[in-house]
Amino acid sequence: FERGSLAGLHLLINAGPTREAIDPVRYISNHSSGKMGFALAEAAAEAGARVTLVAGPVNLPTPPRVQRVDVVSAEDMLHACQNALPADVFIASAAVADYRPAHCADSKLKKDPHSGDGMTLSLVRNPDILATLSSPPAGQARPWCVGFAAETNEVLSYAQGKLQRKNLDLIIANDVSQPGIGFNSDDNAVTLIDRSLQQHSLPHASKQKLARQIIAFIAEQLARQPS
Ligand code: C5P
Repeated sequence: FERGSLAGLHLLINAGPTREAIDPVRYISNHSSGKMGFALAEAAAEAGARVTLVAGPVNLPTPPRVQRVDVVSAEDMLHACQNALPADVFIASAAVADYRPAHCADSKLKKDPHSGDGMTLSLVRNPDILATLSSPPAGQARPWCVGFAAETNEVLSYAQGKLQRKNLDLIIANDVSQPGIGFNSDDNAVTLIDRSLQQHSLPHASKQKLARQIIAFIAEQLARQPS
C-alpha cells in the first residue's frame, strides 16, 4: 500500500443499504452496515485520491478528506453517483435494494379489516447503478469499475458471471454463508477477479486491512493501463 499511488485520481465509492419507502413511516431495506465501503473510502483518501462517498443510511463517521453525499433510496443513489461523475474509478460496495414498492402511499397504510391475514405489496425493479455507470452513453468517459458479489454458493462462478454481465474491470467476491465475515461484521475475506479472470485471494482480515489491500491492487492495475 503506497501513499500517493492514487494521487490526481477521483474515486467514486457507494456504500451501505438503500431504503425503499412503502409509506411515510415504513420501508424495505437490508442489513448492510456500509463498513467495507467506508474502509475503502478511507484507504483511497490515504492513497492520495480525491474521494466521493455516496452513502445510504448508515451509522458511521465520514473518513478524513472524504466528500460524503447522503442518500436514502436506490434512485437517489443513482442520481448522486451520476452527479459525482466524471470519476476515474467507481467502486460499488452498496447493497442496493433490487426492488422498490411500485407506489409510495401518501399517508400511513392502515390494516385492511377485509383482507384477512394477508397483504400484498407490489414491487418494481430498481436501476442497477453499477451496470449503468459501467456502460455510459457514447461520448461520456467510462470509469474503471469495481463491483462486489456477495454469494452463499458457487461464489466464484457467480462472481465471474457478474463481472462479464455488468461489464466490470474487477469483481470482489465474498462468501456470505461463512460466519464472522461479510455483511455487517468487522472482518471479511475476499477473492478479487480481474477482467482476464485471474483470481487473487485476500484471506480473513479486518475490513480496514482488506480495504488497503484492495486499494493497492486497484492502484497497481491502473498503473499498468495504457493511458
Ligand atoms: O447483482 P448483484 O446485486 O449481486 O450485484 C452486486 C453488485 O452490483 C454490487 O457491486 C452492487 O453495489 C451492484 N448493484 C447496483 N445496483 C443494483 C444492484 C446491485 O449497483 N440495483
